[in-house]
Amino acid sequence: MKNPDELLRRHKAALPSWTPLYYEKPLELARGEGFRVWDSEGNEYLDFFGGIVTTISGHAVPEITEAIKSQVDKVFHSSTLYLIENQVRLAEKLIDLAPISGEKKAFFVGSGSEANEAALLFATRHRKSSEIIALRSSYHGSTFMTMGITGQSTWSPTSRSALDVAYARNPYRLRCALCRDEGRCNLLCADDVRAVVEEETTGNVAAFIAEPIQGVGGFVEAPPGYFERVKSILDETGILLISDEVQTGFGRTGTHFWGIDAFDVEPDMIVMAKGLGNGLAIGAVVGRAEVVESVAPNLHLSTFGGNPISTAGALANIDYVLDNDLQTNAHEVGTHLKDRLMKMAEDHAIVAEVRGRGLMLALELAGENLQPDPAAAVRFLEACRARGLLVGKGGLKANTIRISPPLVITREAADEAADIMEEALAEVEAGTREKVG
Ligand SMILES: Cc1ncc(COP(=O)(O)O)c(C=O)c1O
Repeated sequence: MKNPDELLRRHKAALPSWTPLYYEKPLELARGEGFRVWDSEGNEYLDFFGGIVTTISGHAVPEITEAIKSQVDKVFHSSTLYLIENQVRLAEKLIDLAPISGEKKAFFVGSGSEANEAALLFATRHRKSSEIIALRSSYHGSTFMTMGITGQSTWSPTSRSALDVAYARNPYRLRCALCRDEGRCNLLCADDVRAVVEEETTGNVAAFIAEPIQGVGGFVEAPPGYFERVKSILDETGILLISDEVQTGFGRTGTHFWGIDAFDVEPDMIVMAKGLGNGLAIGAVVGRAEVVESVAPNLHLSTFGGNPISTAGALANIDYVLDNDLQTNAHEVGTHLKDRLMKMAEDHAIVAEVRGRGLMLALELAGENLQPDPAAAVRFLEACRARGLLVGKGGLKANTIRISPPLVITREAADEAADIMEEALAEVEAGTREKVG
């Protein structure tokens, strides 16, 4: 058994101070099995964050680890200058699954940020424009170009941008100034995209990029009709639609395989990573062939993109998701868990909103007048951990609890987690009362 305090000391000495660690006493996950994990001191937890919405099929799935091991024994790396059968098979599979009609192409990279970089490259080449519209509160990655289209200053520690970016209002019903008084969404946030095109750009915009449910932003769901309304505005001037599905892909939202499938629109490109490899470093863009091909006659490649190991693992992972119909499980167990969260919210005023779909659920914590309460979110994470449950945080003010377990969780595990969250909420509220009192 390792001493986590000693590891933390070495971590702090060797790694930058700005890489965030969860918990007052950070933990190391030493082992996992399905939706359960054990830390280096032998404590067991329900993993309800899945390595930041990534471990979609669960930990140590034999079908996936065997596929990786068998490839490791053959060839580790060849570079994309050589044919790679796994890469071709994965491309064919994703092309089949992507909700884009006509001829499509897939391009592989090593992460979600790189996948967005590639999509932005294709869009800007195709449209001969460097102008992009992104959403406020969005998160698209940690590279210069993707920080430049990320609508959260916390995650955008540079003002440098390789692109000309305009930000549209994010469809965030709880805090929307446009429909607050109406009590229902009027989709004026979608209409705002036209104003952005007309007032903040030259009119020749390459692409509109959005997450169907904002991940790091706190699982903020676009309302029904949002993307249909936006797409009709984009179509007026031929602006491409990029769906960043790094968190929403592969059945996580339960009702659909892709987040964008909840809307009656067809994107020009889909960006994916995280769940694609169940934790392997892999990202991809699948898009309309004429858009992806627009890099030519220049050349472009990624040394590690589509490498034999990550594509072997991703293929086995996607097969596992499909063969076991994890999307249906996400829908059924997620609906049950959301019901439980909604019920507990009635008794806990600190929960300003329960939102999300499938196994992408959130609790936004706020005080009076919807004042975001990030301290409560920190206490909630600690209270859950102490009871054997790992969840995540997010939101513009870090006051939203993110719940995104592997899609294999059972109803019993969801109930176990819900019981813990109910106790944690009571503890957090008692702490808040003590402070105020
Ligand atoms: C929606 C979205 N896009 C892109 C990224 C960047 O992915 P990566 O961290 O793999 O570079 C993330 C990461 O959280 C994300 O949530």
